[in-house]
Amino acid sequence: MIMNKSTNDWNRGGLPVWAYGNPQLSELEKERVFRRHWLCAGHVSEIPNAGDYFCFDAADERALVMRGADNEIRVFHNLCRHRGSRVTAERSGHCRSAIVCPFHGWSYNLDGSLRTVAAPKSFPDIDKSRFGLKPVEHEIWHGLVFVRFKGGGPSVAETMAPFEAEAAPYKLADMEPIGDYYEVRLPIDWKAVVDIDNEGYHVPIGHPSLHQLFGPNYVDEAPRGGISRSFSAFQETGARLWSVRHYLNLLPEAEHLPESHRRAWLYLSVFPASVLSFYPDSFEYYQMLPLGPEECLVRGREYALPDARREMRAARYLCQRINNHTSKEDNQLMMWFREGMKSSAFDGLILSDLERGVRAYHDQLRELMPILERAEPPSPGEIEAELNGSAGN
Ligand code: FES
Ligand SMILES: [Fe+2]
Repeated sequence: MIMNKSTNDWNRGGLPVWAYGNPQLSELEKERVFRRHWLCAGHVSEIPNAGDYFCFDAADERALVMRGADNEIRVFHNLCRHRGSRVTAERSGHCRSAIVCPFHGWSYNLDGSLRTVAAPKSFPDIDKSRFGLKPVEHEIWHGLVFVRFKGGGPSVAETMAPFEAEAAPYKLADMEPIGDYYEVRLPIDWKAVVDIDNEGYHVPIGHPSLHQLFGPNYVDEAPRGGISRSFSAFQETGARLWSVRHYLNLLPEAEHLPESHRRAWLYLSVFPASVLSFYPDSFEYYQMLPLGPEECLVRGREYALPDARREMRAARYLCQRINNHTSKEDNQLMMWFREGMKSSAFDGLILSDLERGVRAYHDQLRELMPILERAEPPSPGEIEAELNGSAGN
């Protein structure tokens, strides 16, 4: 790639160090960033039959995604109206005709309406119509179930519109899981995970396998309406690692995709933290969620169109192998970055033009939480006051 000499016309600093691992800011982020934006909860193929469900927890909220007897997918707060228990004990499963709370046994119909109260004579008359499970706003985009715990703002379809034509040929809605759902807890602020995902500058050194697959073709684009796009045509020759070489050799022609995407990788990152990663043979969503100021969860799953051909199975295995290496490498790199910030010698960062995505993401956070403009840590009371000002609907 030929680059013009860089100029000094943009701010190359990152977020202030105090913004990482800050307990009060973590609460503000849950409220402003995670409850008020669309989050990818899962895929419709996980709940093919009436009564199938999966759960999705984020930012101290709990969602229950349920396929009803009428085949409709609904999303509820996983919150019993009696005393707030979860109404499903497992992460995913099947309810025959009712959802029965594991605490005292109140039951709900699959459409969320209250069905029975345990020991009803122990209560005065209860108006059942007032005690159904509370709905959560949701939208299904190409088979992916997005939820938004607090409303307002554009729909998923509107947000994704600039990328609709590019994503549609992958036929995500027809895909099935090809791997287990995974969750990884990391002892690190979630923003450190997103930071590393927002730049490809580290790929040539930090990800040897991925770099052999992409070569110099990798490009990160500036975000558009909260979506960041990266793209790389595969580098067809010169791979030394056997997994990359064999992946390139075995990968069958993806006839459902346009020529430009048959041997290429596409990455769409949906603000705040849902990543859609498309290969010609498979698709993965993953997501970073805060669990606390210095703990986060990375969760996701891989999917593909039904295809039992041996060469396709082998290509998918190799693709997963390359991606597993990449995420292990990222985990190490982000830990070193986060540790470095705690050092007395750390005095900020200087971003390359190839890391503009980090700055652009931080700008979106600054817009939602102007307190991030402060170089010095604000007092806990100041962040709390900002949080109290925004906690309503
Ligand atoms: S909390 Fe669900 S029945 Fe009591
Ligand atoms: Fe990486």
